[in-house]
Amino acid sequence: MSDTEDGAGDAADTDDQADADATGSDDTVVPVGVKLGSTRTVIVYPSPDGEGPETVRTLTCLATYEDVLTGEERILYGEEAATEYPDTVEFMLRSGLPEDEESAGSAATFFTELLKSNDIPENSAVVYAIPTIDNDAGLANLEAVVEGSHIGEELVRSYPESLCGALPAFENGLGAIDDIFVTVNMGSTNLEVCAYRRGEQLVPLSTGSITGNEVDRRIANYVEEETQGRVNIDLTTAREYKEEHADFEGFDPFTDVIQQPGGGSHEFTIEHSVMDACDEYVDEVVDEVANSFLPDLANSYMKVYQLALDQPIVLTGGMASLPGITEEIERRLTDELQRDVETTRADRPDLAAAEGAHEIAAHLSKEL
Ligand SMILES: Nc1ncnc2c1ncn2[C@@H]1O[C@H](COP(=O)(O)OP(=O)(O)OP(=O)(O)O)[C@@H](O)[C@H]1O
Ligand SMILES: [Mg+2]
Repeated sequence: MSDTEDGAGDAADTDDQADADATGSDDTVVPVGVKLGSTRTVIVYPSPDGEGPETVRTLTCLATYEDVLTGEERILYGEEAATEYPDTVEFMLRSGLPEDEESAGSAATFFTELLKSNDIPENSAVVYAIPTIDNDAGLANLEAVVEGSHIGEELVRSYPESLCGALPAFENGLGAIDDIFVTVNMGSTNLEVCAYRRGEQLVPLSTGSITGNEVDRRIANYVEEETQGRVNIDLTTAREYKEEHADFEGFDPFTDVIQQPGGGSHEFTIEHSVMDACDEYVDEVVDEVANSFLPDLANSYMKVYQLALDQPIVLTGGMASLPGITEEIERRLTDELQRDVETTRADRPDLAAAEGAHEIAAHLSKEL
């Protein structure tokens, strides 16, 4: 076990206890699914008490502070780090992947702390989700973070995030790996679209211009306009507005309060900003799928295109969690393509990549 300090408060177990508590302390290999994302990290593993899988979901960020008693540097991660240290907190995968040695180092520290405080066992088979992106250096850094951690003694393997994230949307789960379908992975820094043919990616497309982060930026700008310049929100607040209030089935205007510099507070109501930004996002997603990706697929693989569109298109990634977004995309795509198209998603699209990775890991660990 590695030797870094305890970070978050609930990481108080000593190493000895942690080993004893660890899931699967017998010889069985423990399947673990991992998704290290730019906004959040999700880990799915068998719960220690043998009931259904356990899910860890946390912000991908790190802060350090000095222990006033010992003078030692202490590490905090996740929500605690983001709330208590907004001034110094580091989101090391902000651009999607660890871009350089420094952010790879921070990502490794973050991952180690997270594994430690959740007692994820070493004798595990780890499958981790990776973005479909032309960035070999970044992918190699991500690989080093997972390979370098203490888990995955038995096996470490990566699969595309959009494939992992699609599996939980199918009734036959892992069986869907043998099918043909289209996925749209809607993340914070990228939109990824591709067709899967028995697990093989066809005409993968990835763009950094249609993203959850861009929606947050727009929300912040629109809030300023909607309040006649009286309210400036940061991107974290914009993201929270989106995650808490955006709803294509029935958005309710909401109020919030800011403290004013000279004292006193200002209450304001948001009616349009959030849904205007989400609406533009959906238009852009639909345009990209209908006018860029699908023509490409049809040109390269006509029959596969037909087969794929007979199946529902699977929406994955955190942005696919927006209430009503599947129906909205389905409606606008059907209009745009002038043919019936269906869409679907997992129950929790934001967790689906790690859940699917866990399913693959469970399958692979049976073969070990
Ligand atoms: N319940 C929710 N409602 C609305 N948006 C959500 C919800 N949960 C997550 N999101 C948004 O989804 C995005 C994160 O999605 P995801 O976790 O798939 O991204 P990622 O894989 O880290 O990013 P990328 O692959 O693009 O680098 C963020 O913009 C986040 O605000
Ligand atoms: Mg992603």
